[in-house]
Amino acid sequence: MSTILDSLDLVSERMQQEQANLKALIKEKMQIKVTDAELNDKVDRLIYNHCLKKKELQELFGLSRVTFNTRIDEAIESGVIGQPIIQGRTHLYNRFDVKNFMDHMALPRYADRFNSIVVAVENHKGGTGKSTTTVTLATACALDLNLNARCLIIDLDPQGSTGQNLIHQDSEEAVYMTAVDVALSELEPEGDFAQYLEQGYEKSELIKAIPFKTHLPNLDVIPAFPSDERFVDVYWGQDEAGQSELLCALREKIIPSLREEYDLIFIDTPPQNSPILWAVNEAADAVLIPVTPREFDFSSTTNYMATMPSTFRELPSKGENLKWAKLLPVNFDEKSSHEVKVFNKLLRSTQGHLLSTAIRHSEAFVSAAESNRTVWDIRKSEQLCSGKQLDLALTSVNAVYHQFITEMKQLATKGL
Ligand SMILES: Nc1ncnc2c1ncn2[C@@H]1O[C@H](COP(=O)(O)OP(=O)(O)OP(=O)(O)O)[C@@H](O)[C@H]1O
Ligand SMILES: [Mg+2]
Repeated sequence: MSTILDSLDLVSERMQQEQANLKALIKEKMQIKVTDAELNDKVDRLIYNHCLKKKELQELFGLSRVTFNTRIDEAIESGVIGQPIIQGRTHLYNRFDVKNFMDHMALPRYADRFNSIVVAVENHKGGTGKSTTTVTLATACALDLNLNARCLIIDLDPQGSTGQNLIHQDSEEAVYMTAVDVALSELEPEGDFAQYLEQGYEKSELIKAIPFKTHLPNLDVIPAFPSDERFVDVYWGQDEAGQSELLCALREKIIPSLREEYDLIFIDTPPQNSPILWAVNEAADAVLIPVTPREFDFSSTTNYMATMPSTFRELPSKGENLKWAKLLPVNFDEKSSHEVKVFNKLLRSTQGHLLSTAIRHSEAFVSAAESNRTVWDIRKSEQLCSGKQLDLALTSVNAVYHQFITEMKQLATKGL
């Protein structure tokens, strides 16, 4: 006899099917025809949207047209980069070729002058814009060719799908391992990570192999999965020494290997004060706290701020690794007098701990998220939202990015 649970099974099946359909639809929409009609070449929309015109590339290198042309022709001939996409009279170079060309021409890298930085994005309040801020800022860093940094996003929110949505590589043969899998590997001898170690792989090499590729050559991602939630149960099952070891796992066992490969490491966190967040805090150099200037968010951020310093002091490192902590107003509608009032309250109470730029409220963020993208990844011509809304979003994230990266560079200057 059919019970309500059987019928709920069907609901779940249908919902999963809808999800799969949506993913297939997004994938299909992402394939676009870019070259002359008769060639009928299809290029991934995300790759296409970030292509650089030859002139833009020339300006980046500061070379004369003739010298630049010679260099780029040589690079194509010797196989350093592929042929550009030809669109009418425009030559377009994808970001992977741009990166190879930059390496070939030995352009200065972030790592030459700055140390690596681990930035945790957190706020216990759900839906404040943590994931949007993480991905938007990490993408901005990766797109900044003058910065020339290697960027990584670690998703540590078991209930979120930010990290999974960013994966942009053939994943049929991939082994999905998360930061939590590594953190728990000594307690889970049957797990993938421990099994690889058994087979003789070196720990550091294994950790470096975990991140997935995204649509940008210098942005990788370590996704999270609902099974990462077990970290909390395992933590509470340990004695004091075991708990302390777990809190240090990210900082001591995982991050050092990742710092060898990445310059800017962003960590997206869950909306709870939980052992996962404490392990992140233990590993963070900087904490960025997105806050929406609305009354409810203000009061929950007030609660978060009330516990934050003591939470850090109770960590194994006593919070002494933390070098920077600031609030960032996000999803801010400057036209709302109510929001301006709350924003002013934030200004008064946070003083030097508030970034003076803000991410504005814009439907472009929602439109971008609907196709698993950031506002940097959409073009006006796609008409996913109004051009005005996209401009509003981009202008504000640009300002935030510049302020943020300047502060990070001050923090990370080598020799300080
Ligand atoms: N500046 C913005 N303008 C308009 N909508 C936004 C903006 N920033 C975020 N949003 C929307 O708000 C919702 C919540 O954002 P997001 O997922 O980044 O928050 P979160 O803090 O990571 O949430 P959670 O606590 O559930 O992890 C999303 O639907 C997102 O598209
Ligand atoms: Mg989130």
